[in-house]
Amino acid sequence: MRRHDNFQLKELNTFGISACCDQFIEFENESDLLTLYHEGTFRNPWMVVGCGANLLFCGDYKGVVLHAVSKEVCVVEDSAESLLVRVDAGMILDDFIAFSVSNGWGGVENLSAIPCSVGAAPVQNVGAYGVEAKNVVERVHLFNTNDGSVCSLSAAECAFGYRESLFKSHPEYVVLRVDFRLTKYPFHRLRLDYGNLRAALDANFDETSENALSGVREAVCRVRDSKLPSPSKIGSAGSFFKNPVVERSVVERLLESYPNMPYYEVGDQCKIPAGWMIDQAGWKGFREGCVGVYEKQALVLVNYGGATGAEVWHLALRIADSVKEKFGVEISPEVIRVGAY
Ligand code: EPU
Repeated sequence: MRRHDNFQLKELNTFGISACCDQFIEFENESDLLTLYHEGTFRNPWMVVGCGANLLFCGDYKGVVLHAVSKEVCVVEDSAESLLVRVDAGMILDDFIAFSVSNGWGGVENLSAIPCSVGAAPVQNVGAYGVEAKNVVERVHLFNTNDGSVCSLSAAECAFGYRESLFKSHPEYVVLRVDFRLTKYPFHRLRLDYGNLRAALDANFDETSENALSGVREAVCRVRDSKLPSPSKIGSAGSFFKNPVVERSVVERLLESYPNMPYYEVGDQCKIPAGWMIDQAGWKGFREGCVGVYEKQALVLVNYGGATGAEVWHLALRIADSVKEKFGVEISPEVIRVGAY
């Protein structure tokens, strides 16, 4: 276990915002966390940061930041059709996806290039191109900071929802490892029907080929690259807002004024793309000082360098107000704000 006092988190949040925490601790496993438990670490403010891809620091963090560093992958069950793969929380999700695809294991390819650690994937129930973590996560192994015990929860117990899980209301849990159920060739069913994914596949793409998984991974990376800023070049946290889920009557009302408005049915309700509304409200490409709205995807707020979290948050509030005024729909941040505003 390595500890660093007064640690700068700029490299540990994809927005690239400068913020310090009192102490930064890199932990390996439950035994490290048990040591911290006995030291009383969890009785004072603490939080876990993986890649910091969903955080906005609006000031220094007066507490301890924990960061998982173990990156082991092991196959714990291997049958003719599928595998159960146990992955340590500290592995970068995309490294695990690249490894799975190269082995011909299907299930996670649509999640390619999401900047995220394996430990964060179930917390946020990350999703892209028609797949969410909940479709592949079978079990999550946890350390309970309330009593120093370890336990595991099945996918059903994790209460996954759209960018939601039980972990958001149970911050006492630290993710140690995640079990993914992956499918072997030729049993895997590809999911290609989200948006323009199918159109982004190579002309010679063959769904039945053993190489289909890497074809899908490449297409997903291409689509993401064309719409989302690369965190290594421009600071952002991907989608800043969640797509609001509204009653069908709201969509019917809006369609009268905006007949081309995209929307998706979710049970009895409908999801409207927040990016579309922000775009319609005229924000796409907006820039003021160091902050702005990405010119290729209005759902993404960006730090062009040197922005503070408060500047980004202030812009987000203005955007949400203008969407509310134009469409009568509330949009709420997907990004979690840390520190005082
Ligand atoms: N749209 C616009 N203008 C924009 C942005 C979007 O008109 O500036 C329209 C698009 O044309 C499309 C619709 O809105 O008709 C939806 O856009 P897109 O397919 O790009 O997806 P999204 O709803 O904006 C969601 C996720 C992304 C994920 C993509 C693909 C959320 C909050 N965002 O974005 O996730 O990559 O779908 O599955 O659900 C993230 O969570 O950080 C993230 C990037």
